[in-house]
This record gives sequence, structure tokens and C-alpha cells, in this order.
Amino acid sequence: MSGEGFPIKVGVLSLITTLGLAAGILTYQVRDRHQRTEVASLLASGDPARAPDIFRRYGCTGCHTIPGIAGADGKVGGPLVNMRERVYIAGIANNDAEALVHWIVLPSAFDPKTAMPDTGISEAEARDLVAFLYQQ
Ligand code: HEC
Repeated sequence: MSGEGFPIKVGVLSLITTLGLAAGILTYQVRDRHQRTEVASLLASGDPARAPDIFRRYGCTGCHTIPGIAGADGKVGGPLVNMRERVYIAGIANNDAEALVHWIVLPSAFDPKTAMPDTGISEAEARDLVAFLYQQ
């Protein structure tokens, strides 16, 4: 019987196709993540790797829930998620990297009545935070 091997061949072929697809998707996701990190860093000219310490040092973590930052479960301000996709910062400033850096450094300059305090964070440190927030 010459056709006996056929179903096995089809099985092997579809397995190879599935594995190939899975590998492709994985590669795409890794590359996409890498590109997002690069773009976020360029926009904010900061280093997202420094962000976790800075978030803790200036008490951001006590007031905001920040995905990816251990212990950042504050509920005083809103969660810092999807910052890249927001149209506004705190409902008043157009969302771009420069405005977000300035908001983090001096929120009172945007709104003297805001409940978010000026924390004393430097502009360079704020850039590290924005690089992190925009890559999420
Ligand atoms: C004492 C609490 C407190 C601390 C500390 C604090 N924030 Fe906030 N934050 C707030 C509140 C409240 C708001 C909402 C302000 C408003 O809408 O006027 C806010 C708003 C924001 C927003 C705008 C969010 C949005 O949804 O548009 C960002 C970004 C932000 N904070 C980042 C930070 C970072 C980074 C730090 C640390 C350097 C920090 N905050 C420290 C309370 C705080």
C-alpha cells in the first residue's frame, strides 16, 4: 500500500507549519517589544531601566498603581497605564513626551490646585520615568 504514510506526512507537515507560525509570532512580539522600548527611550531620552528605583524614591508608588513596578499599588491618583495611548495628561495637557516630563517635574505649573505634589524629581529622572511609561 503506497498511500499509508500520507496521513503521517500531513500530520508532520502541519506540526512544522504550526511551530513555524508560533516561532514567527514570538519573534515578532520580541522585536515589537524591543522597538517600543527604543522608541519610548528616544522620545523621552531616558532609560526605562532606572525607572523602578525612581518611582519608589519619589513616592509615585504610594499614590499610583503602576504595572510592572513591584509595590506600586497606590490609589490616590489614577493608575499609570496605557500612557502612550492617552490624549491628555491629567485631563489638561496634550499628551506627549515633553509635556509628560514637565507634568511629572512640576504638576503645579499645569494646575495649582492639583492634588499631585511637586516631588522635587529632576528632569533627567522624569525622562527615565516617561521612557518607562511610554513603553508599557
Ligand atoms: C500624593 C500623591 C501623589 C504622588 C506622590 C504622585 N502623584 Fe501623580 N497624581 C496624583 C493625583 C491625585 C493625580 C491626578 C491629578 C489631577 O488630575 O489633577 C496624579 C496624576 C498623575 C499623572 C497624570 C495621570 C493621568 O491619568 O493623566 C501622572 C503621569 C502622574 N501623576 C505621575 C506621577 C509620578 C511619575 C509621580 C512620582 C514622581 C507621581 N505622580 C507622584 C497623585 C500623586
